[in-house]
Amino acid sequence: MSFQSRHFINFANLKQDDILFLFDKAAKLEPHYKYQNKNACLLFFEPSTRTQISFELAVKDCGMQSVIFNPETSSLKKGETVLDTLLNLQALGFDLFVIRHGYPDENLNDLSKEIKVPIINAGEGVSGHPSQALLDCYTIQKERKKLEGEKVLFVGDIKHSRVVQSNIELMKMLGVNMAFCAPDSFLPRGYENIRTFDSLEEGMEWATVLMFLRTQLERHADFNPAIEAYTHAPHKVDKEAFVKKYSLTSERLKTWKKDGIVMHPGPFNRGIELQSEILNDPRVCILKQVENGRRIRRALVDSIIGDGK
Ligand code: CP
Repeated sequence: MSFQSRHFINFANLKQDDILFLFDKAAKLEPHYKYQNKNACLLFFEPSTRTQISFELAVKDCGMQSVIFNPETSSLKKGETVLDTLLNLQALGFDLFVIRHGYPDENLNDLSKEIKVPIINAGEGVSGHPSQALLDCYTIQKERKKLEGEKVLFVGDIKHSRVVQSNIELMKMLGVNMAFCAPDSFLPRGYENIRTFDSLEEGMEWATVLMFLRTQLERHADFNPAIEAYTHAPHKVDKEAFVKKYSLTSERLKTWKKDGIVMHPGPFNRGIELQSEILNDPRVCILKQVENGRRIRRALVDSIIGDGK
């Protein structure tokens, strides 16, 4: 199995060799502008900075033209479905769709069965963000010089993180060990086999890689943005208590392993999961992740559009 002419929705049907081949390609492939007769449409139904811009650059690096679909000015506003939107764009002759969305009733897996143009999942609700997982694992491999046996500690709002969902899929395939550190209401159900640390200090002692996550208030069923509070007391996570227990401070980082790395998929909240004072620490790889994102997405687009080599 390879990426060529295929949808990339998750890691099903991909093998370790396919991923390592892609990482090798990402390390070597520079902009080549080969596919100048091809067109990509980027459809982002949810906000994005890193993913949308890096895919746009990746597409241009391969010589393709990119068209940005704006849901706000589209016929979705007149009630057209996502499926019908894609069928119409397919009729216009696009060669690639890059899609971020979060409509649970029109998921990418189902849509991909109706659409012939290859679809890349650029982040779907809470269910997955596979290109982010690719760039995360590529960054670990590059910075730590290996993947197998690495120990990744996910810290924070794990339950609402599509990045964690995809990383669990990919890291299992690559032999990476994982653990969680979060308040109970931020822990996902169904992963009882993954070790959970109550204390960040203990988790840090175990981990070689720390991956902090944004608290995704917009996805919390019981969060009321109008009053900036949780409407169901049992699920409430107090912000001050959270920061005290789970935020990365220079004090916590001071005694941590010198060759460990700190990651965050972004966007991060300064003063919540990360304190500004740690951002210049050489172990913090957050902007390297972004840089690697363009490389990984260039290799991914090239693999899907090109001859599979
Ligand atoms: N990591 C990530 O998906 O960031 P954006 O939402 O800015 O694309």
